[in-house]
Amino acid sequence: MERRDVQGHYERLAAEYDEHWVYGPHHITWMSARIAETLRLSSADRIADIGCGTGMFAREVARIVNPEHAILCVDPSVAMLGQIGTPPPAGLTPIVASAEDIAAGRSQLPYGQLDAIWLKESVHHVADPAATLYGLAARLAPGGRLLVIMLPTSIEYPLFQAALDHFAELQPDPALIVGHLREAGLQTHLRHVEYELRLDREKYVGMVRARYMSMLSTFTDSEIEKGIDEMRAAHPEPVLAFPDCFAFLLGVKPEEGR
Ligand SMILES: C[S@@+](CC[C@H](N)C(=O)[O-])C[C@H]1O[C@@H](n2cnc3c(N)ncnc32)[C@H](O)[C@@H]1O
Repeated sequence: MERRDVQGHYERLAAEYDEHWVYGPHHITWMSARIAETLRLSSADRIADIGCGTGMFAREVARIVNPEHAILCVDPSVAMLGQIGTPPPAGLTPIVASAEDIAAGRSQLPYGQLDAIWLKESVHHVADPAATLYGLAARLAPGGRLLVIMLPTSIEYPLFQAALDHFAELQPDPALIVGHLREAGLQTHLRHVEYELRLDREKYVGMVRARYMSMLSTFTDSEIEKGIDEMRAAHPEPVLAFPDCFAFLLGVKPEEGR
């Protein structure tokens, strides 16, 4: 295995990211609707998507919510943010910054306070999640909501065993992250939502070869090819069907005086 280089991984993956992550157009509309309903978004909210990647979910959320204030699409990867488009579509404002930059106030935002923040599959890249979530919670207006969407520590993807084991080693436990939200003064709620994926096996093999998950970036080319042989042997079926389960961790900032 090789050393993990998160920044380089996303710079390389950016151009193909939507192709790899678009499990199908339904996945984006389904997930974006879950984000909008969980955060109880309204068009008046000042919203940020932290670790937004290519902004594919923010774009759909903007279509659902029709925001009066552009959704802030924050990501440290210039290449990922570049996929949002130039100029960015109406309703989205890209900002090159990390979650840590926003939490520590190192990056200026156009809004003094935020009504809703979400981090989808980016919290595992944050070095000190307790301090960072504390700083992000401090940017919320009273009654503001912060949603962390992440995979659980064990996943049922049809990957090779070494990849599943490596994922389990790296992935933070959602229960720990809920604890950080609570310590940041938020009222918390954890639920799991599941989405049934059906993917052509060879498309999925291509995604694995392209290292569509950042934890795959530590495997060498020959380890990936060996893993793909293992996957093909375990899954001779042409279409792979498996559940994608997400933990939705919601933190709500109490209204003033409560
Ligand atoms: C798995 S992608 C998720 C992208 C997007 N949220 C989605 O669901 O399609 C992880 C993203 O986190 C970003 N990232 C890496 N380190 C970060 C940090 N410290 N703060 C915020 N985002 C970070 C990466 O650049 C990448 O775009």
